[in-house]
Amino acid sequence: MSLVQLQITDFRNIKSARLQLSRGLNLISGLNGSGKTSILEAIYFLGMGRSFRSHLAQRVINNESEQLVLFAEIEQAQGNAKLGLRRLRNGEIEVRLNGEKLKRLSELAETLPIQVITPESFSLLFEGPKSRRQFIDWGAFHSDPQFHSAWSNVRRILKQRNQLLKNQADYQTIEYWDRDLVRYTEQVTEIRNQYVHSLNSLLTGIIEAFLPQVDVKVSFTRGWDSKTSYADALQSQYSRDLNSGNTGSGAHKADLRLRVGNMPAQDALSRGQLKLLVCALRIAQGRLLKEQINKNSIYLVDDLPSELDARHRQLLLTQLADTGSQIFVTAIEPTAIVDSLHCPPDRMFHVEQGHVAVTE
Ligand SMILES: Nc1ncnc2c1ncn2[C@@H]1O[C@H](COP(=O)(O)OP(=O)(O)OP(=O)(O)O)[C@@H](O)[C@H]1O
Ligand SMILES: [Mg+2]
Repeated sequence: MSLVQLQITDFRNIKSARLQLSRGLNLISGLNGSGKTSILEAIYFLGMGRSFRSHLAQRVINNESEQLVLFAEIEQAQGNAKLGLRRLRNGEIEVRLNGEKLKRLSELAETLPIQVITPESFSLLFEGPKSRRQFIDWGAFHSDPQFHSAWSNVRRILKQRNQLLKNQADYQTIEYWDRDLVRYTEQVTEIRNQYVHSLNSLLTGIIEAFLPQVDVKVSFTRGWDSKTSYADALQSQYSRDLNSGNTGSGAHKADLRLRVGNMPAQDALSRGQLKLLVCALRIAQGRLLKEQINKNSIYLVDDLPSELDARHRQLLLTQLADTGSQIFVTAIEPTAIVDSLHCPPDRMFHVEQGHVAVTE
């Protein structure tokens, strides 16, 4: 799975760009504010229908335009496909795969499994459980076709349950909803648990390469007491939930615990080491996806050189290349990447004030 060609129109400061891409390593260089991250963001937007930087989609539309248009030709095992996306300022979005309109954005995510590594995304992973859950769910979504609908059902029922709690509903009414909630929650939890288990076996080797002699442990917590069934947990927390108007435990509280020895990883590791840990997690996810459904991810690594010394840059680039995936890497100075490689990147682009050119 890789992008052969990418066309960007009116996305951030890029008015118009057409990039012929390599299946391997694509290096994008340029000064601050030139548009490097915007190119990665455009690829992500095409794959997810949203940005990794701003939840307000109209911010990514070029200031002087009413709409943005993205187009890519994708190379897949089953032949090439054409993916197009148009987003208007009023929120309207239209996505076409081989000319046919897609109904749901999740169909888009299935088409392009994208892994993002940015300085912001890696701090996020250590700030709160939400992004760690998203990390697990990226894999759960791609590895099990049941996950998306089970998780959507959990969220839908939780919303209804919380509304009932706010209205001080009696226990019988709540219990009626809880039967389905328990069923879907168990399904979601089983898929997540299996996923983290499979991930762990791949992760060990990668962490050993990146952080030798650091005892990193990754484990899954499901979101309620480990000794109680979810049905019992819901029953015993009913009066507390009624007081708060919120469901206090469940799949929406699941987390990925990252520990070094007996400390949280963010307290035990340096910034560069944390970045390497996140990269190891993402690389393991890409490898697992390849193992499970024979699909390659696309890696977007923003500002790869920052916080890494030359040896670790090289290690990271080698590990990324070993996944066999298409990789997009940005750097201010191309030499920061080129000097860490045995052979030059497969394709190099230089960006200047939103204009993209291929360089030799
Ligand atoms: N909607 C928009 N319309 C036009 N320009 C925009 C819009 N949103 C952001 N920009 C501008 O686009 C430029 C490119 O930003 P981008 O983050 O891609 O730069 P960069 O090359 O990644 O820089 P850095 O090296 O500092 O990370 C910025 O100067 C920004 O002000
Ligand atoms: Mg940037």
